[in-house]
Amino acid sequence: GRVAVLMGGSSAEREVSLDSGRNVLAALQARGVDAHAVDGIPALVDALVSGKFDRVFNILHGNKGGGEDGVLQGLLDAFEVPYTGCGVLASALTMDKIRTKQVWISAGLPTPKFLRLAPGADVRAAALELGLPVFVKPSSEGSSVGVARVVDEAAIGEAVRVADAYGGEMLMEQMVVGDELTVGILGEVALPSIRIVPKGEWYDYNAKYIADDTQYLCPGLEGAQEDEIRRIALAAFRAAGCTGWGRVDVMRDRASGALTLLEVNTAPGMTSHSLVPKAARQLGVEFDELCWRILEQSMP
Ligand code: DAL
Ligand code: MG
Repeated sequence: GRVAVLMGGSSAEREVSLDSGRNVLAALQARGVDAHAVDGIPALVDALVSGKFDRVFNILHGNKGGGEDGVLQGLLDAFEVPYTGCGVLASALTMDKIRTKQVWISAGLPTPKFLRLAPGADVRAAALELGLPVFVKPSSEGSSVGVARVVDEAAIGEAVRVADAYGGEMLMEQMVVGDELTVGILGEVALPSIRIVPKGEWYDYNAKYIADDTQYLCPGLEGAQEDEIRRIALAAFRAAGCTGWGRVDVMRDRASGALTLLEVNTAPGMTSHSLVPKAARQLGVEFDELCWRILEQSMP
């Protein structure tokens, strides 16, 4: 059947998604799939009404019609068109960092301490309670868009203004001093972890997509700790009701070695800088094959 590779859209991650989408499209076509690019949900609706596609490979990133937040998944369920990745509930939940963390806590899974910043909240008191440094994040953005690291009190106000510009809820989260790691999930399997060593202070938008000086180590940990990170990442993915594929971001405290969960990405990046393709390659799964396997997950 014909496959729509859904990319672009109108979220803050539009450019990242177009980059991911072009790569996925080329890979599927190289595998002989009758795949076509579709930019954004409104264009997809037109194509669905005329019955043009039998399946959707969703590589939209982000919220608010961005395609990663459950809205698209509900639409496709209504049209009875199968798609890659998570269903409505897991997509909507994991687009919301605050509520994802609450689910993990209730499942006994570790996540850094945080506070939801309600409108008008005393952000200085929040920072005092958590202890600096902290991250201030919009609850429902991706690619570190709108995220600021706050080391001293004077920077709190500006960080909150930046995050607030994205409109939704915000959280303030304790910063883990240590390593940034991520675990790709493909089907029911956790891929080898990747340790990210950014040149700057942390793995921000620039380090993710623009600079070429970020170092990646895969597998990111050794021995029992590598087993442990894969185990908790898969547990976190399942606790959030996720299926198909995704990527779980994890921190490792330098002093104690403790692992804590940051978030799940249900349509992770597939750019040349992206992490799931690197982890798959470590297992000998090349990019074309990876895209094919993700598509296969949408087949009953
Ligand atoms: N949100 C970006 C695309 C990622 O997680 O890779
Ligand atoms: Mg994310």
